[in-house]
Amino acid sequence: MKTEEEKQTSSFSSRIGLIMAAAGSAVGLGNIWKFPYIAGENGGGAFLIIYLICVLIFGLPLLMTEFLIGKQSGKSAFGAFRALRNNSRWQWLSWSCMVTAVIIMGFYFVVTGWCFHYVVAAVAHSFKGLDTGSFTEHFNSLVSNGGGMFAYAVLAVLLTAVVLWFDVNKGIERLSKILMPLLLVMMMLMAGRVLMLPDSNIGMKFFFQADFSKITPEVVLAAMGQCFFSLSIGMGAIITYGAYMPKRQNIMATSLQVVVLDTLVAVLAGLIIFPAVFAFGVDPAEGPELVFVVLPAVFEQMSFSWFSSILFFGLLCVAAVTSTISLMEVAVAFLTEATATRKHPLNRHKSVLVVSAIVLVMVALNVLSLTDNGSWLCLHGDNFFDWSDTISANILMPVNAFAMALFVGWFMNKTETRQEIGKKSNWQYRLGAVFLPLVRFLIPLAILAIFLNGLGIL
Ligand code: PFF
Repeated sequence: MKTEEEKQTSSFSSRIGLIMAAAGSAVGLGNIWKFPYIAGENGGGAFLIIYLICVLIFGLPLLMTEFLIGKQSGKSAFGAFRALRNNSRWQWLSWSCMVTAVIIMGFYFVVTGWCFHYVVAAVAHSFKGLDTGSFTEHFNSLVSNGGGMFAYAVLAVLLTAVVLWFDVNKGIERLSKILMPLLLVMMMLMAGRVLMLPDSNIGMKFFFQADFSKITPEVVLAAMGQCFFSLSIGMGAIITYGAYMPKRQNIMATSLQVVVLDTLVAVLAGLIIFPAVFAFGVDPAEGPELVFVVLPAVFEQMSFSWFSSILFFGLLCVAAVTSTISLMEVAVAFLTEATATRKHPLNRHKSVLVVSAIVLVMVALNVLSLTDNGSWLCLHGDNFFDWSDTISANILMPVNAFAMALFVGWFMNKTETRQEIGKKSNWQYRLGAVFLPLVRFLIPLAILAIFLNGLGIL
């Protein structure tokens, strides 16, 4: 018989296992696909500075906030708040996390599908000898073909569902322990190659030189949203992982490692994309297609271009799937827990099926909105895909994170929080002392201000 503690920690028997899973959730398309295109649309260097400030002020403490809620309650996003407060007044926040997860999955699986397509295209030598204009055409033909795009996204949904169905998270963790460092090495090599291209210094300037006149309320809101999205904050994914956290594991150290790794990958992505953008004459504000147009062009400049492009897009798929696993896990754990006391409880397998069905509907809407037949899915010039992307990162995640900070700061036992956060070493004790004032006052006020300012209300 397993003890209660063993049962809880069986999913993550090792410290490094949990760090890998949390890092796997954080590092994904948000770093390599989304960060460059949002930075490109929002002024490059100015955005980078604000982004890094957001990571410091919001990223680290909010990651700790979610780990703390999960670890103290031992429950997923569905039951955590209720368990800690002994009432269901915070249940709306659980639902809000679930809705956010479903909206994100709708477009995230579509982009994961694009990555799958790029692996296949790389294997088939489709990029050989093409110029930048032809890469744009290649991307446009992918996106205008709704059926093909849907098929690739379905493949991504199926793969994620299979991992959750067989509970083979552990295998994935072991795999990503090898593959993620490989992705990092590969990105460093690509950055090195790109820096040797003519005019790459213009891109470096764009990315690293902050023009403060470009900082507007919208840029700040976009940076905050990107920080939440990239670190998987404000959706309950980290709460769910916190519930599996071994009791001995240190929250601050784990969060710090995830933040450093995630930020490193995002900055590396910028270091590859922006010099290349200027070298190939692409517009940095091109939008969601940016990396899919620029990266194949980078590989054409590299030695072993065929092999490098397959390897890179393959690794990108792995990074994307470790994130989709955590996204879907939130919804699956939610459903299983929510129906546990009902007449017809949904076990893990049934929950995986129900969630997959809901996600497929969302994916279909996203795909449709990108094609010519989906004009009815447009509002104010943006389609359903763009809206899902913007609303989840810039509105839902900040609102959820705002509420979670207040929850930990005002409604959880402060002595326990201080003990949990400030344990182990002296410096952690000192940092731990800053944690509570941060989540009680600074973070909620800052989120509120940025939010109202960005939406033009303040
Ligand atoms: N952080 C992931 C990325 O950067 O790609 C996206 C994500 C995963 C967001 C899981 C939220 C989440 F719960």
